[in-house]
Amino acid sequence: MSELVRFEKRGAIGVITVDNPPVNALSPGVPEGMAECVAKGNADPDVKAMVLIGQGGKFIAGADIKQMGKGNTTPTEWRETVEMSEKPVVAAIQGYALGGGLETAMLCNYRIASETAKIGQPEVAIGIIPGAGGTQRVPRLAGVQAALDMIVGGEHYPSSAGKDLGILDDIYSDDGFLDAAIAYAEKVADVRPLPRVRDNDAKLAEAKDNPGIFDAMRKKIARKARNQRAPYACIEGVEAAVNLPFDDGLAKERELFKELVAADEAKSLRYAFFTERQARNVPDIPKDTPITKVASVAVIGGGTMGSGITMTCADAGLPVRILEMNEEALTKAMDRIRSTYEVSVKRGSITAEQVEERMARITPVTSYSDLGDCDMVIEAVFERMDVKIPVFKQLDQSMKQGAILATNSSALDIDEIAAATNRPESVIGTHFFSPANVMKLLEIVRGEKTSKEIVASCQRFAQQIAKVGVVCGNCDGFLANRSRVPFNLEMNLLIEDGALPQDVDKVMYDFGYPMGPFAVADLAGNDIGWEGRKRRYAANPDARKLPIPDTICEMGRFGQKTRAGWFDYKEGDRTPYPSDVVEKIISDYREEAGITPKSFTEEEILRRILFSSINEICKILDEGIAYKATDADVMWLNGFGFPRYRGGVMFWADQIGVKAVYDQISAWYDELGDRWAPSPYLKKLAEEGKSFTSD
Ligand code: 3HC
Repeated sequence: MSELVRFEKRGAIGVITVDNPPVNALSPGVPEGMAECVAKGNADPDVKAMVLIGQGGKFIAGADIKQMGKGNTTPTEWRETVEMSEKPVVAAIQGYALGGGLETAMLCNYRIASETAKIGQPEVAIGIIPGAGGTQRVPRLAGVQAALDMIVGGEHYPSSAGKDLGILDDIYSDDGFLDAAIAYAEKVADVRPLPRVRDNDAKLAEAKDNPGIFDAMRKKIARKARNQRAPYACIEGVEAAVNLPFDDGLAKERELFKELVAADEAKSLRYAFFTERQARNVPDIPKDTPITKVASVAVIGGGTMGSGITMTCADAGLPVRILEMNEEALTKAMDRIRSTYEVSVKRGSITAEQVEERMARITPVTSYSDLGDCDMVIEAVFERMDVKIPVFKQLDQSMKQGAILATNSSALDIDEIAAATNRPESVIGTHFFSPANVMKLLEIVRGEKTSKEIVASCQRFAQQIAKVGVVCGNCDGFLANRSRVPFNLEMNLLIEDGALPQDVDKVMYDFGYPMGPFAVADLAGNDIGWEGRKRRYAANPDARKLPIPDTICEMGRFGQKTRAGWFDYKEGDRTPYPSDVVEKIISDYREEAGITPKSFTEEEILRRILFSSINEICKILDEGIAYKATDADVMWLNGFGFPRYRGGVMFWADQIGVKAVYDQISAWYDELGDRWAPSPYLKKLAEEGKSFTSD
């Protein structure tokens, strides 16, 4: 018998336990082991029913993703052994039943779950469809529309929702869960005929009478799922459940699964999945580094970022104190937080009760002396060194020893901030991305003296607040913003040289960004970038000027808020319309500067923008500020809206080939000058025939 699955008798009930840490995935040996155990239970006259459960309070998190795309074909006979068992099998779900885990549960005759368990078919998130009958069995249990929502959406559902949908038969407390499962198995031991999901067609009728629901779903996902195949294949799979006999539906699902699992979309999404987890490993920080457990947080500043960070902590169940200079500013911050939560209630993502729970975790304060006992403080005041330094001097005096002193700076020197305190080892950057309560990225910036314990603690904190933490070193703009600077410059220079904002936006949108970068600038407000440029021009008279966006701002075209920016906007309509005014500004500038406009192919626009950042990322790697190219990918995916189904900017570059990227950058260096000087790191990789992300 497989070591990964064991069989024990508890009276007349056979208990089958899957024991494959860390998540009880269906690695080779697990499916076969479950089938052997079911056969054993059927062969034993003393066994009347069986319970299938996972070791360590976890059911099964799905197929083993590491095995995917390796050409191994998973045997399918085990499923028949489980499904056609002569004695009842009860799936007892704690932790997660995801993907192949939920599919295994649906092979069983009954499914019960603990109160905290989660179920789902998240395969779409790794570019595939359920491949062990999910597209055929979920609609039979939950109905066709609910199955479409679950399989195309890929979300995790709490067990209560699973019961409401008809996927789960009952829910029990986590305490004594195995005993409850055994009692349940005893209760159903003599029920015949055995209920099997495959035999239950009643809930398919709704779609037989209303085939339009599939097209409606395709329409609903069209914008979000553009360029992708998996979400549409999920719909086809469920459609097959309605239109084909059960076994033919399974065959259709298998065919779609095989097509998808080997495709680039799935490869990129698997890469993204594992890369995010690898980002937790920092080369010189051992996994057993002691950490400061964060049980309470203080946030300094109640502006947009401070409020968003406060909400993030409250959302994660942490008590959080928010400090502002006076009562008026505090009231404003608390109002902002409440109204943001209320928007979420209107959208249906949280309940009014949850708003009250979260608000109750937030304590507004006006004095530093009220923060001292917090485990961590995050400063989110105005982004200027002369504003931040006095705050850190205060924090040094008021915070308990051992507390994490973090700054939300997006670019300033962490070492200079740390030097304002007598404990630079406790000072670190935790850079959130706007809106802080939504964006998943947390850039964790190590100063020269930051201790390993504080870095490891912030990594753990990131997980605690459901963010993806990526650690990097200290430099102007750190890894994230510094790697975006060339992108922003290049899009502007393309405009000078011959492209129009709508050309650039179309290319980037078609590539997979949710919006083009000029439309994003209009949304965020062009005045923000303008302020930064004015400061840079004042500090450095040789700084590269950007006359076109400067003129646009001088005319008050700040974006959507002024109904004019790079594009024109109509009242009550956020659609960006190409602007004659902007085209005139651009052509006037070209004439004045003596530029003969060139025409660019879409590929050139895309590569000029992305290659410029790839070269910068290589420079950051060369300086040792970033540890791995994959970390940059995690940042771009979670902080900058890079399309996930392309893996990440460095993974995308690998598909083109490091040598080809280097050759192009070298050619642009000759043609366009110094800003394209190839990074020595890039040159070395190209010469050695290596890749960015897989060596
Ligand atoms: N296969 C292989 N490894 C997996 C895995 C899987 N399905 N799920 C998680 N792991 C690994 C992670 O890589 C990580 O490894 P590491 O410690 O070496 O980095 C470890 O297990 C722990 O995972 P997390 O750090 O993600 O743990 P969390 O507690 O934060 O989250 C989870 C647990 C929600 C289960 C999350 O791991 C997850 O979402 N896993 C993927 C679930 C999934 O997509 N299932 C469907 C798979 S496809 C399928 O089933 C096809 C079928 O239809 C045939």
